[in-house]
Amino acid sequence: MPNSRIIVPLDYPTQRLAEEFVARVSPQECALKVGKELFTAAGPALVSRLAAQGFRVFLDLKYHDIPNTVAQACKAAADLGVWMLNVHASGGRAMLTAAREAIAGTAQRPLLIAVTVLTSLDDPALRELGIAEGAAAHAARLAGLARDCGLDGVVCSAWEAGAVKSAHGAGFLAVTPGIRLAEGSAHDQARVATPEAAVRAGADYLVIGRAITQAADPHATLASINNSIGTRA
Ligand code: C5P
Repeated sequence: MPNSRIIVPLDYPTQRLAEEFVARVSPQECALKVGKELFTAAGPALVSRLAAQGFRVFLDLKYHDIPNTVAQACKAAADLGVWMLNVHASGGRAMLTAAREAIAGTAQRPLLIAVTVLTSLDDPALRELGIAEGAAAHAARLAGLARDCGLDGVVCSAWEAGAVKSAHGAGFLAVTPGIRLAEGSAHDQARVATPEAAVRAGADYLVIGRAITQAADPHATLASINNSIGTRA
């Protein structure tokens, strides 16, 4: 079955609120992202339950630790039935390789995505960490490292998706947050793109939060975006 490119983040403080939203959408319409807030509140049981309901689950815990610890965490995530998970590329080559190897033999291998530079870090903040080359160059360096270590793709803004594809090939996935509908509010996001522009720029999967979760009719909003951007095999 063709898959929606849309990933809706379940940015809710409680399981009850998350489940209220989930009850309004179907696995064909979107994948679901479980991040640190909900995972810490609701735990792995929610993740496996969503997977058992047929949802593709992106477990957004951004692992960053010593290689053995990250490898075991990735294996545990794969055992929950997640479809996609992520690690910080700045954990380094040994950590990235260990993560990839840990999930290689699992029954349904999740996609392994790298976080490069957090969008909350600007050039001065990076300099304070001893990184002089600037956010754009550092993100490109870390994407290259992730590709080299056999990861499946990176999280990046739609504005960077084209550069990621031309540097690392069409098969290297670009997962893009910062999506806004043409008529919607930008909220706190700065580098935003519409769903259509993001896909044109090379985005494979679009993380779309408030534009969907705060819509009067999330189901209708999802259907309309899915129609305009198409699915991914
Ligand atoms: O509501 P909105 O569409 O801005 O939600 C975007 C989601 O993507 C949130 O879960 C946010 O944490 C996540 N995200 C982001 N920017 C990044 C990485 C992740 O907005 N660089």
